[in-house]
Amino acid sequence: MVSRVIPVDPFDLVIFGGTGDLARRKILPGLYRRFCAGQMPEGARVVGAARTEMDAAGYREMVAEAIREFGGDETCDDLEEFLEKLDYVAIDARGEAGWSELHSLMASRDQIEVYYFSVGPSLFGDLAERLQQWGLAGPDSRIVVEKPFGRDLESAQALNATLARYFDEQQIYRIDHYLGKETVQNLMAVRFGNVLFEPLWNRQYVDHIQITVAETVGVGGRGEYYDKSGAMRDMVQNHLMQLLCLIAMEPPARFDPDAVRDEKLKVIRALDPVLPHHLIRGQYLAEPGQESRYPSYREAVGDPRSRTESFIALKAHISNWRWHGTPFYLRTGKRMIARSSEITVVFKDTPHSIFTEDAGRHRNVLSIRLQPNEGITLGVTIKEPGPGGMRLVDVPLDMTFAEALGPEGGAQVDAYERLIMDVIRGNQTLFMRDDEVEAAWAWTDPIIQGWEARHDVPKPYDSGSTGPTDALELMRRDGREWRKVSP
Ligand code: BG6
Repeated sequence: MVSRVIPVDPFDLVIFGGTGDLARRKILPGLYRRFCAGQMPEGARVVGAARTEMDAAGYREMVAEAIREFGGDETCDDLEEFLEKLDYVAIDARGEAGWSELHSLMASRDQIEVYYFSVGPSLFGDLAERLQQWGLAGPDSRIVVEKPFGRDLESAQALNATLARYFDEQQIYRIDHYLGKETVQNLMAVRFGNVLFEPLWNRQYVDHIQITVAETVGVGGRGEYYDKSGAMRDMVQNHLMQLLCLIAMEPPARFDPDAVRDEKLKVIRALDPVLPHHLIRGQYLAEPGQESRYPSYREAVGDPRSRTESFIALKAHISNWRWHGTPFYLRTGKRMIARSSEITVVFKDTPHSIFTEDAGRHRNVLSIRLQPNEGITLGVTIKEPGPGGMRLVDVPLDMTFAEALGPEGGAQVDAYERLIMDVIRGNQTLFMRDDEVEAAWAWTDPIIQGWEARHDVPKPYDSGSTGPTDALELMRRDGREWRKVSP
């Protein structure tokens, strides 16, 4: 197979928060894998920047450890060579310490500059201001910012306005790592690269669409952050919203950043408000007998009265010609039965059945699995083999990527690796634009305000389940069923 590594130009990548969890788990191991794949050009450099006092040697040691722990299998034996590309500066985002060192490190480097803000949003403004003050950012520099991008419309607008004071929108890369997932991009390839699906992709042929992002993990050590966010802010406003956009948007005229983002924005703006009885919030209970290892949500966040949801299921409607009347069911939660993310398009019944009642009726179902076992399955109806008359049965036309494309073609590139390389290439297609983020909050805010006004208490659900039973009811009363959550 032809090598898929598309070279990028030499770059300097400064990671603020370079000793933090995200840097250690995702960014640095991801960069190492790109280095192993031959995508890191000569002259590329990565500078960790954080408050911790240490020298470059200490940082390299920390990074080596992180790579050993989180690097995965797709690495190589050239760790030393990669580590030589690393540097470190101890820096105070709000003070003066470290900025002149960073300035000297970056001076007279004539290559792409990327500043990755892998820090809390309260520091975005300080960092942006300092970068400009110290003349560290030119018109071609890029900044990368992580979620949470605000906690409501007002705070998101304020953050956007702060960043806009120092950087043009074309320089700002707002990461939603779901957009970097292989299958998420494949959604666009499947929809717009095939003639088969698009003519059926509308209210006339689609009965409903389901999006499930189920996790087995709990809130772990992130209780403090999570309890102020909940599943709506942590997952629905961004990750599930992006999936919804890609599944529902009109075909963009070109696969270019603004054409794609314009279409996504139209979907978000066409979303109807969610009715209170179309929304179920849940909170997980402890695993019986294993309470200390798998505590309840409330114990995990240290608040016995917490009303934050670790699960949400809702029914959304998009008011436009394509989707009017077609429900979109969204569901996500922690401590569920399996880790499984899937988008399912359930098509309508055939308009008329030529078969007798006992042949059974079946529906075409297209399911797009994000993780694990990335792939696409189309359920088609055929005759059950053998004698005994005409009986119908569903069989999957299965395309599990790892099997279909072989070991090399099926190799999965982590979302962060892909997205960082896109920043260096200057391609914003898979990043969120300011208006998109704001529109998503504008839809989310009234939902959250609604349950706050009603003093809504999330329904408890068992660890290792599919969420509260009310979530099943949400579908059942419409005569539908959620897809099985299976690993
Ligand atoms: C993050 C959320 O954005 O996405 C986490 O903050 C969640 O709460 C994670 O666990 C899920 O990502 P993935 O890639 O494991 O599905």
